[in-house]
Amino acid sequence: MEIKAIIFDLDGVLTDTAEYHFLAWKRLADELGIPFDRQHNEPLRGVPRRRSLELLLNGYPATEEQMQEWMARKNSYYVGLIQQMTPADILPGALELLKELRRAGIKIGIGSASKNTRTVLDRLHLMDYVAAISDGYSVQRHKPMPDLFLHCAQQLDVDPGQAIVVEDAASGVEAALAGGFWVMGLGPEERVGAAHIVFPSLEGVHLLDILSALRNTQHVSRFTHHVTIQKTGSSAKPSSIQRSSTTRKPSSPSATATWGRGGPSKRGILAPDRPR
Ligand code: G6P
Ligand code: MG
Repeated sequence: MEIKAIIFDLDGVLTDTAEYHFLAWKRLADELGIPFDRQHNEPLRGVPRRRSLELLLNGYPATEEQMQEWMARKNSYYVGLIQQMTPADILPGALELLKELRRAGIKIGIGSASKNTRTVLDRLHLMDYVAAISDGYSVQRHKPMPDLFLHCAQQLDVDPGQAIVVEDAASGVEAALAGGFWVMGLGPEERVGAAHIVFPSLEGVHLLDILSALRNTQHVSRFTHHVTIQKTGSSAKPSSIQRSSTTRKPSSPSATATWGRGGPSKRGILAPDRPR
């Protein structure tokens, strides 16, 4: 199996906008008199705006009109914070890795639930690196459902088993696993430990480090999934997920000689069999 693409989450992976989302929600929560700290913020990572607000409110009564106003208010705080962003806000190691992927012919995709994805990529001057963007406008069901990453893989014309998803959020790791992708978690084990491989950050991480780590993974997952996705729009068909509860270890990489010693092959990058 070849790895043909890497799909990056945005917030907290390529740049530290996860912090700006927190600060914006915190400001709103303070104004509403709702207790909200970094611990409360954890489950909000990677999830869409409305669901984030529901989690923040935690049963606090609200009309639909208030919900709309609060989401708009939080977004205005967030948009204010990202206005000052520049390429200097790309997290350490991210740009180097993107450049390396581009040289290696690996397609680069973005899978983020944020409706501000394009603005942030623009501010970071990263638009030229990406071949596909799936964002808050692309699908109806968000992480932990796999739709966003499947949408991105479809745009990139690769199968999930040919792609690695890079995520900093538990919900994103769950989504990528559900979609049948290889998953690289960034951050603490408590948050992203379900991923096939975990790195503290992208700093100093090269393509071959990722592929070697994947090859060595002893990860065992409980499900394989066959998923049809539901795109935004009226013509969308109902989604379905059928799970089969096989428990298997990934088999050993079939062509260690190619990427263990010789590095990436000309045909592409060889990785272990399809993630399970
Ligand atoms: C990403 C972030 C979340 C955020 C969501 C929606 O997934 O990780 O923290 O809530 O996007 O972002 P938006 O910019 O549309 O409010
Ligand atoms: Mg994230």
